[in-house]
Amino acid sequence: MLLRFSLILCFLSFLFFSCQNKSASKEINSKHLYDKECSICHGTEGIPSIKNAKNLQKSTITESEIKQIILKGSLQMGMPSFENRLKISEVDSLVAYVKSLRK
Ligand code: HEC
Repeated sequence: MLLRFSLILCFLSFLFFSCQNKSASKEINSKHLYDKECSICHGTEGIPSIKNAKNLQKSTITESEIKQIILKGSLQMGMPSFENRLKISEVDSLVAYVKSLRK
């Protein structure tokens, strides 16, 4: 009886931990995403590496404006639109990351 109980317990904890791992790997790594999609122009720290790009450390725009520019871009100035390239959850995590770069 005791053996059976511990086997069940073992199985349940296995399920629990394997599910936990799954959700952890699904979590968006916003730094990784930023480094991949944005740092070419805005630099890894938010200091621009191309002429027109804005310094994200000194940016003062609101969260919804940040979200808007990531979605729509600023085509004349040279920022591409990410609307069709990123999931909305990824855009939201980038908004938070961009704000965290401010000094
Ligand atoms: C090809 C170059 C390029 C890439 C890639 C790029 N940007 Fe930009 N970004 C720009 C340029 C240029 C501007 C200035 C636009 C303007 O002045 O209208 C800008 C402006 C911004 C602004 C507005 C800042 C302010 O204070 O007005 C934000 C926020 C921003 N980018 C975030 C991002 C994020 C997040 C990514 C990645 C998903 C990204 N950008 C990718 C070129 C780029």
